[in-house]
Amino acid sequence: MSLIAREIDKIIEPQEVMEGAGVRLRRSIGTHTLDHLDPFLLLDNFGSDNPDDYVAGFPLHPHRGIETVTYMLAGVVNHKDTLGNSGSIGAGDVQWMTAGGGIMHEEMPQPRPEGNYGFQLWVNLPAKLKMSKPRYQDIRASQIPVVTAGGGARVRVIAGGAGGVTGPVTGIAADPVYLDVDAPPHSSFTHEIERGHSAFSYVFEGEGRFGGSDSEAGTRVSATRLAVWGDGDYVKVVTTDSPVRFLLISGKPLNEPIARYGPFVMNTRAEIEGALRDLREGRFVWSESRKD
Ligand code: FE2
Repeated sequence: MSLIAREIDKIIEPQEVMEGAGVRLRRSIGTHTLDHLDPFLLLDNFGSDNPDDYVAGFPLHPHRGIETVTYMLAGVVNHKDTLGNSGSIGAGDVQWMTAGGGIMHEEMPQPRPEGNYGFQLWVNLPAKLKMSKPRYQDIRASQIPVVTAGGGARVRVIAGGAGGVTGPVTGIAADPVYLDVDAPPHSSFTHEIERGHSAFSYVFEGEGRFGGSDSEAGTRVSATRLAVWGDGDYVKVVTTDSPVRFLLISGKPLNEPIARYGPFVMNTRAEIEGALRDLREGRFVWSESRKD
C-alpha cells in the first residue's frame, strides 16, 4: 500500500482580536471562518514589541473542559493558578495546562525589550475527561529536543515524535503532535501523520510549498497564515530561496458535540450553565471532595 501525501485544504488569514484585559492577538482557529478543527478549538498568535499591546494580560480567569497550551518564542509571561503553580514562561518554554473540571489562573506578559511573541492553542478534552483533575506540564526550553531532519529542517519536538525523538509532553488524550519546524532555503521536510487525524501548519516566518509528494507540487504558503491539511499519511514542505518556519500540529478528532462559552468548552448547554452556576456559587475549582 503506498502512502498518500496530504494536500492543503484551505488557507486562513488570521484575524486581529482583543482578548483578556486588552491584549492584541491574531486568531486563526476559533473564528467565524474556522470555528474549530476537531480536537483544536482555538489558536492565538501574540506578537508585539509594544508593551501597550500586551501588558494588560489575562488577569484571574476560569477554564473548564479543555487544555490550554502556551508556547513562547520571545518574552516572558508570569502565571499563577489554583493548583498552586506559579512561575514564568520564557523564550522556548511550553506550558501544557489541562484545565479538566475547573481551574482559575492568570497569565501576565511582562514588558521586555524583546517584546512578547508566541502562541496559545486550546485542545479539547473528551467527555470522559472534561471534569477530570487538572494537570499542568511545565516544560523548559532545555527539555525540548531539537533534531535536524533528513531534508535539512531543524525541528523542535514539543509533543509526539520526529526524527527519532519524542517530545516531553505526554499523556494527552488528543494524541497530539506539536512541532516547531525551521526549514532553511532549498530544503525539504517530511513528516508522517496518522490518517484521520486533523492537522494544520501555522506559518510565521518566510514561505514554502506545502503538500504533495514532489517539489513541483503543493501550495505556496507564506507568513503569516494558517494552512489546514487535508487527510493522508504524511505532509511534505519544500523551500526554494526563502526559509520557512511553521508549527505543525496534529491530533485525533473527538467527534463529540461542542458547547462553548468563553473559557468553558463542554458537550451540552446544560454543562455550560453548570459551569456558570459553579462559578457563581464559589465551587468552580476542581477539588477531591467535590461531588460532580
Ligand atoms: Fe487562560
